[in-house]
Amino acid sequence: MSVEQKLCFDIEQLGQARFSNPMSSAKFVDDDERVLYFSDPKVVKAALDQGQEPLAFELAGPRKKIYFNPKTVRCGIVTCGGLCPGLNDVVRAIVLSLTQHYGVQSIYGFRYGYEGLNGEFGHQPVTLNTEVVNNIEKLGGTILGSSRGPQPVEEMVKTLDAYGIDILFAIGGDGTQKGAGAIYEECCRQGREISVIGIPKTIDNDISYIQQSFGFETAVTQARNSIVAAYNESVSTRNSVSLVRLMGRDSGFIAAYAALADSHVNYCLVPEVPFTLEGLFQSLEERLSRGQHAVIAVAEGAGQDITPPSTETDASGNIKYSDIGTFLRDQIKQHFKPKRLKFNLRYIDPSYTIRSGPANAYDSAFCLLLGHNAVHAGMSGRTNMVVGNWSNDFTHVPIVLATSKRKRIDPDGWLWDNVLAATGQPRDLGSASSYVP
Ligand code: F6P
Repeated sequence: MSVEQKLCFDIEQLGQARFSNPMSSAKFVDDDERVLYFSDPKVVKAALDQGQEPLAFELAGPRKKIYFNPKTVRCGIVTCGGLCPGLNDVVRAIVLSLTQHYGVQSIYGFRYGYEGLNGEFGHQPVTLNTEVVNNIEKLGGTILGSSRGPQPVEEMVKTLDAYGIDILFAIGGDGTQKGAGAIYEECCRQGREISVIGIPKTIDNDISYIQQSFGFETAVTQARNSIVAAYNESVSTRNSVSLVRLMGRDSGFIAAYAALADSHVNYCLVPEVPFTLEGLFQSLEERLSRGQHAVIAVAEGAGQDITPPSTETDASGNIKYSDIGTFLRDQIKQHFKPKRLKFNLRYIDPSYTIRSGPANAYDSAFCLLLGHNAVHAGMSGRTNMVVGNWSNDFTHVPIVLATSKRKRIDPDGWLWDNVLAATGQPRDLGSASSYVP
């Protein structure tokens, strides 16, 4: 039995759903509807042959019977961590679904992430309704504010008690979802009932068991603009290298997809695939000798073994990585300037611009559906879960599963293969892969 076969995809349920869903024209989802985790028929057959159910996610969507009474249920929403295009869309979608689909009247928006659930900060929650969320999807950022880092779980539960929150929607990344799980556990310990529904948010697209996170597509579109600028700069002069630094702490999906978008990138450097300066320089030297320009896209977490080590941590407890962008910029200049007449290096760092604007149309629609499905899950009494997407369906994923490991590019997988095919860079830029799935 593989490790993955032992995983638990079961979703916790607060109790029997007794109220009729007021959505008269909805196509209701049955509780036993599933979305296969492995779609390969061979894997499915192997599980069945061994008398096991193939691994599958619970399908998201409105249930005919719901657990909470829409007339009395009280809901809270919190946005945590770094910004991501679409945060306001998700807030709006949750509020619209709660009010328009279910007729819920009490919705609180807690301010500045989990700080808003810690009374010591004194942030008062805002009352959310259709008027407050009108047009907020056109704004970047989050109208609720955000913060990084955990807060004492007992304090957070106290605040939830004070506002009588039955369903908490937590929009955030890995740390946020772990915090949401901790809130649920603390409520259980106190014998207090709560539905905790996470909506995974990560610009790096690095949450496991979720095909794609909202805002990722918008971020890649923004990153692409920088790549196009870098390309135009480097092809217009001889002996030119353009270097673009993109977000991506531990997973280089933004750099990889930006590299695929126009095939303008000649070297894509990601955290999952080690390289050495010597390997990169040798390959660059060959390109420039052939009279070719070069565009390099580097994810911020790449090459951390070749930069000066960093020990600083951010509020979420993540190590603040050394700046690979400026490091590479300086090293490339130092290496090539003395060797080549009129060597040009252009450095572009779009930085926060890729994540702080509003979502594009696709991401907005995606956020709306995530928000609606989060509400359906909460109203049905599900808890300790996040809303995911898999094989074009929306799914329920246990928090503990979604936060069990980080999703990363597999250097032996199809995505990296295609990045190599599009860039033309050597598979080995000076170091063997140290990828641990
Ligand atoms: O986690 C998402 C992310 O965008 C990372 O790519 C990046 O390292 C980090 O956030 C930076 O965010 P902040 O400066 O807000 O900590």
